[in-house]
Amino acid sequence: MAKKIGEGGFGAVYYANLRGEEAAIKKMDMQATKEFLAELKVLTHVHHLNLVRLIGYCVEGSLFLVYEYIENGNLSQHLRGSGREPLPWSTRVQIALDSARGLEYIHEHTVPVYIHRDIKPANILIDKKFRAKVADFGLTKLTEVGNSSLPTRLVGTRLVGTFGYMPPEYAQYGDVSPKIDVFAFGVVLYELISAKEAIVKANSSLAESKGLVALFEDGLDEPDPKAGLCKLIDPRLGDNYPLDSAFKMAQLAKACTQENPQLRPSMRSIVVALMTLSSTTEDWDVGTFYENQAVVNLMSGR
Ligand SMILES: Nc1ncnc2c1ncn2[C@@H]1O[C@H](COP(=O)(O)OP(=O)(O)O)[C@@H](O)[C@H]1O
Ligand SMILES: [Mg+2]
Repeated sequence: MAKKIGEGGFGAVYYANLRGEEAAIKKMDMQATKEFLAELKVLTHVHHLNLVRLIGYCVEGSLFLVYEYIENGNLSQHLRGSGREPLPWSTRVQIALDSARGLEYIHEHTVPVYIHRDIKPANILIDKKFRAKVADFGLTKLTEVGNSSLPTRLVGTRLVGTFGYMPPEYAQYGDVSPKIDVFAFGVVLYELISAKEAIVKANSSLAESKGLVALFEDGLDEPDPKAGLCKLIDPRLGDNYPLDSAFKMAQLAKACTQENPQLRPSMRSIVVALMTLSSTTEDWDVGTFYENQAVVNLMSGR
């Protein structure tokens, strides 16, 4: 029996070793033909370092998609799974930047452009160097938007995606534009900061739950926004993060999750913002290696 490494909405994913090459194989029911074809179409046309690579496919009783094997599982497992080391802050910034680059590519550099529609940590894979790749393109095809940036209204079409990541214009009216991925990406940024789920269940018996977006907005609206943010930071980070950088990431997430889709930044500007953040975060990390005498000498000009 092959080793199962994942399970999602449309099938189970197994580890395989094909003549020495490691692979992940997604097995889907014949009922999932639409999702199978969507993923096949996108991944045979679109190639990018920050998008998972398709090696092949097969239709034989079931539908199979064969991908390059990504060693370190998905982002959700790293943020909330047991038995994993907490991700250092600089790695979180790098993962945000990598996923943003993957999304920027499908939004702005392919013809037609694509909208992913199911951005969330379970669909962001982490490789052995802790670089990120966007995966799971099963919901992508229906939202091909050609070259128009106008939203498409999906009248009578079923709403797909994941609760907690859907922006209001999509949940209410079915309006589809690249800005729905931007909203979901903003939620992922909040998760990188807090390690909380997109919908936070209150521990009271009232079964009340609150979205991560609302939780962060309350925190950032406090008289001292940085103090408000501190309460939401992943406790597993301890004090090992630069507050300035976390604050900037939270502000970026807030911009991405604005109610009005037109006010949300494009993936291109998000990539630029995260590049700036990543270059300053690297500096900060050097500070943590001060026991390394060579670095100390370099920094003090000796
Ligand atoms: N190429 C891969 N390498 C390693 N693990 C993978 C790979 N593809 C998927 N997985 C694992 O399987 C899970 C489900 O895969 P996904 O493509 O999201 O399928 P679904 O459409 O069923 O959600 C992912 O969250 C991940 O943990
Ligand atoms: Mg998935």
